[in-house]
Amino acid sequence: MNILSPSLLSIDFNNIERDATILDKAGAQWFHLDVMDGTFVPNISFGPPVIKSIRKITDRFFDVHLMIVEPIRYVDVFKDAGAQMLTVHYEACEDLEATIYAIKKAGMKVGVSIKPNTPVTVLKDYISMIDMVLVMSVEPGFGGQKFMPDAIDKIKQVKALSEEYNKELYIQVDGGITLDNVKTVIDAGANVIVAGSAVFNGDITSNVNKFYEVMNG
Ligand code: DX5
Ligand code: ZN
Repeated sequence: MNILSPSLLSIDFNNIERDATILDKAGAQWFHLDVMDGTFVPNISFGPPVIKSIRKITDRFFDVHLMIVEPIRYVDVFKDAGAQMLTVHYEACEDLEATIYAIKKAGMKVGVSIKPNTPVTVLKDYISMIDMVLVMSVEPGFGGQKFMPDAIDKIKQVKALSEEYNKELYIQVDGGITLDNVKTVIDAGANVIVAGSAVFNGDITSNVNKFYEVMNG
């Protein structure tokens, strides 16, 4: 069963409670929370206090995508805010292994993400220690960008690594996913789908239902 993790970067921030409740009731299993620091990426989004507020609205699994430099500094802060998984960027960590272990020690699942120009090969030494790889299919920083097709081959490479070193691995794809390309990324090996604008533009419930139809049909 493939997982849908809608990105709340595209939620209506004037109506977070209303729309997060709709999303929960529509059946989205995970909530993808994009944290940006204005340094690792040019944009700034939201941080722990906002995540803590959303935690009060839903019991869904919180998959927090940290687009921040040296995320090891904030592991406990995000744990306290209600995160159940922290995904850090390979490019943002001085000591990735220490960061992975700090997240595990705090009792959360751990993901490692690579930007479009980072090759999958850098992950080989880490794949057996982590729960998820996130393949970015846009340059991180903004919602609503166009899917970069090179991601398809990278997902296949991650899938091959997973078969060799970690069969339980979640393979997540994030950026520009729509109802038109979601089947392609699943066929390549992705099993956790992030979608922001394609879920929140229009009717949330009907969008979630349509995603599940295509993803698990
Ligand atoms: C981009 C974020 C994504 C983004 C996805 O840096 O990591 O999660 O919100 O949005 P869409 O699906 O609109 O590309
Ligand atoms: Zn994201």
